[in-house]
Amino acid sequence: MKQTGFIFDLDGVIVDTAKYHFLAWKNLANELGFEFTEEQNEFFKGVSRKRCLEILLKIGKVDATQKQFDQWMIEKNEDYLNYIVKMNASEILPDVPRVLEFLKERKIPIALGSASKNARPILQKVNLLHYFDCIVDGNNVTKAKPNPEVFLIAAKQLNVASEHCVVFEDAVAGIRAANTANMVSVGIGDEKVLHEAQFNFNDFTEIDNSFLERLIKK
Ligand code: BG6
Ligand code: MG
Repeated sequence: MKQTGFIFDLDGVIVDTAKYHFLAWKNLANELGFEFTEEQNEFFKGVSRKRCLEILLKIGKVDATQKQFDQWMIEKNEDYLNYIVKMNASEILPDVPRVLEFLKERKIPIALGSASKNARPILQKVNLLHYFDCIVDGNNVTKAKPNPEVFLIAAKQLNVASEHCVVFEDAVAGIRAANTANMVSVGIGDEKVLHEAQFNFNDFTEIDNSFLERLIKK
């Protein structure tokens, strides 16, 4: 039997940080004189910070010099980090520790595959860092999801063939990246939004041990 590797996205899969990204972008939009809605925020999921700002400025029809652009990137992140500082283990999404523990007990390789440059400090804050055999995040990639780079690097670091990797994702871009990498894609969230995933669940409470066993034995 071939070894199976599990790759988890961070924001919206392991921790409920999408709301803080939203608040920080909304604060910046308001400061620049326009509104930013939760619906618009859907398109920011799984997308790099730089790309998010480009989209935000398009929404607000704001032109920026390179200097302003760089300044707003810093501003948004500082604002976001102010929310993150107060985070604790209560913001881990339901049943994530159970799933990580189940995999760890069976010595299954586990990776993080995230677009965020804040992944490590967040995992540390919520005390989950020790579960991960490798962390691949926004600091390690040159191409953003839906490009599969982040997951391919993770598979390589886990020493597991791509087709034997399982990816948990809450973003359309992430599901596409997993599919392109020829990995098993599991959508966590609204099935209507994540219909390109091979499997869909609202959250980890719907994923039982026998499903995990099936994925491991695939
Ligand atoms: C992704 C989020 O995980 O990380 C995006 O879904 C976010 O919304 C991206 O923009 C980059 O995160 P950060 O922490 O580097 O700004
Ligand atoms: Mg996500």
